[in-house]
Amino acid sequence: MTTMPERRAALPLLSHARGKRSAVTCELKCGNACADDAPNTSENEYFRDLASRAFTRRRMLGGVGGGALAVALSPASPAAAHRRPGHGHGPARGLSFQPIAPVAADVDALTVPRGWTWRPVIRWGDPLSTRAPEFDPEHQSERAQMQQFGYNCDYLDIIETPGTHGRRALAVVNHEYTNENIMFPPSEDADTLEEYKRIAMAAHGLSVVELRRSGPGRPWSYVRGSRYNRRIHLKTRFAVDGPAAGHPLLRTREDHLGRTILGTQNNCSGGTTPWGTVLSGEENFNQYFVADDTPENRRYGIPSTEGGRAWWTVEPRFDARRPGYENEVNRFGWVVEVDPEDPDSTPVKHTAMGRFKHESANIRLARDGRAVAYSGDDERFDYLYKFVSTRRMVRGSSRWAKAQNKRLLSSGDLYVARFSGDSPPAEIDGTGALPSDGRFDGTGEWVPLVEDGCSRVPGMSVAEVLVFTRLAADRVGATKMDRPEDVQPNPVTGRVYAALTNNTNRGVAGYPGVDEANPRVTNREGHVLELTEYHNDAGATRFAWTLLLVCGDPSSAGTYFGGYEGPVSPISCPDNVAFDSTGALWIATDGQPGTLGLDDALHRVTLTGRERGKVEQFLAVPREAETCGPVVHDRDGSGSVFVAVQHPGEDGSWADQHSFFPDYAAPGTLSRGRWGGPRPSVVQVYRR
Ligand code: FEO
Ligand code: CA
Ligand code: CA
Repeated sequence: MTTMPERRAALPLLSHARGKRSAVTCELKCGNACADDAPNTSENEYFRDLASRAFTRRRMLGGVGGGALAVALSPASPAAAHRRPGHGHGPARGLSFQPIAPVAADVDALTVPRGWTWRPVIRWGDPLSTRAPEFDPEHQSERAQMQQFGYNCDYLDIIETPGTHGRRALAVVNHEYTNENIMFPPSEDADTLEEYKRIAMAAHGLSVVELRRSGPGRPWSYVRGSRYNRRIHLKTRFAVDGPAAGHPLLRTREDHLGRTILGTQNNCSGGTTPWGTVLSGEENFNQYFVADDTPENRRYGIPSTEGGRAWWTVEPRFDARRPGYENEVNRFGWVVEVDPEDPDSTPVKHTAMGRFKHESANIRLARDGRAVAYSGDDERFDYLYKFVSTRRMVRGSSRWAKAQNKRLLSSGDLYVARFSGDSPPAEIDGTGALPSDGRFDGTGEWVPLVEDGCSRVPGMSVAEVLVFTRLAADRVGATKMDRPEDVQPNPVTGRVYAALTNNTNRGVAGYPGVDEANPRVTNREGHVLELTEYHNDAGATRFAWTLLLVCGDPSSAGTYFGGYEGPVSPISCPDNVAFDSTGALWIATDGQPGTLGLDDALHRVTLTGRERGKVEQFLAVPREAETCGPVVHDRDGSGSVFVAVQHPGEDGSWADQHSFFPDYAAPGTLSRGRWGGPRPSVVQVYRR
């Protein structure tokens, strides 16, 4: 590690923190979104109190679990058939482990259950091609980074290749953002600082990496030089498809046709489709631009004053005030689709799925075979969406079938969620205390924005609805939620789970008050919503909902664990979700250091039976890191859990690193290893 004195950091060091998070996370990940006013200032009447209709609803609903509809759930729905949760070849079995105790927030270790161990599968800077240079943080270059694993991994899937007896897989990983302060040696040289920006751009995007292992139950290693290895970054060419492709709102001086976009960025979470591609959400893209102060740009939180990474000094398109570049901001905020099995394929931006700060997109099939994608807009007081494809998925694994299915997300209906509570509003007092019926629950509807190829939003064309989806949803009275993160259907039951991570402005003067779906004032700890589509059909336009968890320290008032009264692990700021082969819910957290004084975690939550709501902590990530991308493989061997460890030690600096993950001198010693700084990594946790 260098001993050079601290001179000028690649970005200003930050000392203030507002809300739950590290100030560095606020600045670099979200562009200080929480320090500004929430951009949704619309006055839509967004939450309909249907207490008077409670009797009607009660006839429709029944059973335990709140969201249970009178119609029996159907695990044999088409969605259940296409992709086996838990992967592998054996029966559904789940994982047995002794929950770990919560870990204090200053501990720089990956903590796993007794009898389990872990190892990194791939780390920031690991070379993907044979020609790529070895990781050398003191002499990094754009050229090197474009051939190496990117930074701050988020969404993750490990897709086993059929017919390889569990010996081959492809890992697909998002790289959401960069922590310049700990990535680069300080410098005062203008050329060096410009090169840092180019390296950071190359460290954004996605990676596809081939994995091999000797057999089921054994640890995976990545294959350097595989022809499947691929970096997708801000210089990768994307095709635009869907109704807004080619529209003037997407044209710039570098793309007169509005059909080709260079790059993807701020890829947060995602989802793997039944046809084997991966969807990735472009989330906090706004903070990378400077643009004119228009109502549309304001609604998307795009700054009109210079700051942040100032990438426009190396790529003019990030200054959308310049003539001809005004629409550059409209070219990000989409769901992108990547085919990991075809390294030569052109990835696609799907305009039919709308433009907002997509956390992720996860698919379930409707009863009639249409593809339904759920997606959340991660902003305080923003919305939950679903897209329903026009065409049906083609069965089979032929190339022809896959080619057909890769067009499914090009055309369809786009909806936004409106929730109604069944308890009197006076009983939702903002403390988290349950209303007299014992549940935060109710019904809801999917309100169309685009349907049958037509705009359902008065005064907006289809293209305008898709490019300015937030403004369209404002006009139809969508429900303002507490920051929707991952939204994912359970492959076993079909129920949909949404992580509402937190919203410290809820109920604060000048902001919307509580409602039954967002029932806590200054909601610092977040909650988890369970949604059951009518007839358990993902294509339905009505649903029932209930809050599964109201997060926090279980000994605190105003928390709720599905009605379970036994011991549970504390949980706060739910973010990414996943399921194992039994349908149990796994929740990764982002923010526990600020709310609970604990390292962020991965928890398993039981969803059925008498232990519904039981939360058990499986692991804790190192100091100042966030848990991302959980993947649970429990069908073969003794099982593995994979996580993407994002922004370890991010409050440090080049000269004062706070984490040495994952290359500790020896596991568990908490001491620096070969390089004296952290490397965001994908980790496999498996039995010792
Ligand atoms: Fe990138 Fe919404 O977390
Ligand atoms: Ca209720
Ligand atoms: Ca996230």
